[in-house]
Amino acid sequence: MASAPETITVELPAPTRADLAIGIDIGGTGMKGGIVDTRTGQLVSDRFRIPTPSPATPENCAEVVREIVSELQSRELSPAEDSAIGIDFPAIVKNGVTLSAANVDESWIGADLQSIMSEALGGRTVYALNDADAAGLAEAVYGQGRDQEGLIAMITLGTGIGSALIMNGQLIPNTELGHLEIDGHDAESKASARAREREDLSWKKYGKRLRRYFTHVEMLFSPDLFVVGGGVSKNPEKFLPYFEEDVKTPIVMAQLRNNAGIVGAAIWAHGQPKEVVKRSA
Ligand code: BGC
Repeated sequence: MASAPETITVELPAPTRADLAIGIDIGGTGMKGGIVDTRTGQLVSDRFRIPTPSPATPENCAEVVREIVSELQSRELSPAEDSAIGIDFPAIVKNGVTLSAANVDESWIGADLQSIMSEALGGRTVYALNDADAAGLAEAVYGQGRDQEGLIAMITLGTGIGSALIMNGQLIPNTELGHLEIDGHDAESKASARAREREDLSWKKYGKRLRRYFTHVEMLFSPDLFVVGGGVSKNPEKFLPYFEEDVKTPIVMAQLRNNAGIVGAAIWAHGQPKEVVKRSA
């Protein structure tokens, strides 16, 4: 029998400013920011939340992002004032531009999220990405996927269904698997946590819908691990028994919970080149 690898616990020195990055998670009801130690994926102080403004237009959200950054930046332990900021958003985000608006204000379609936020922050560099991509990245690096090789599929069950595919630590962005068409329906309209509430489904009925969804995603992508996120992942015993056995891929619940978006956005920004390189036309 192979002996278990020895676990070595290393005491890390306190983070320097260069180890820190701000991550901001824009959601339908709240906008949350935090300062992340990018060596560990831990928040170094409490996160700061402001309700999402109504209407949640790019301009209104930019003002809230400005408030969040100025509060976080005033803390004793904060990143360098010219460090890049990561922001996640619940839509397709390609090259910093939001290209969809399934559950957010329509004025976001085509908005240059990165430039709008950067301008509101006095020119500070911003890197934006999809919310599920941020959560998936955080789980892959610091959470449930940290010892997992191969393909991790993160599925978030909330107002919509979000997805992230991470292959050996490399994110394949904007997969939008919540909008797979299954049995003639947009999958998230039937299997998101909101669909369960809206239709007042029993957990058993909801579990059967998840079975349809997860077996379909499994058939298409053959992942090595499913990580389930979103509020419902706190109570897997309610729905997992109805489909776990029908899915061959191991299914685990997200570990970083409410902070996954903040952490993923922060490490995304921290890992990018310091200057945004614009591709020539
Ligand atoms: C959006 C995705 C988002 C997901 C979770 C979906 O409706 O299309 O971009 O990741 O909701 O917020």
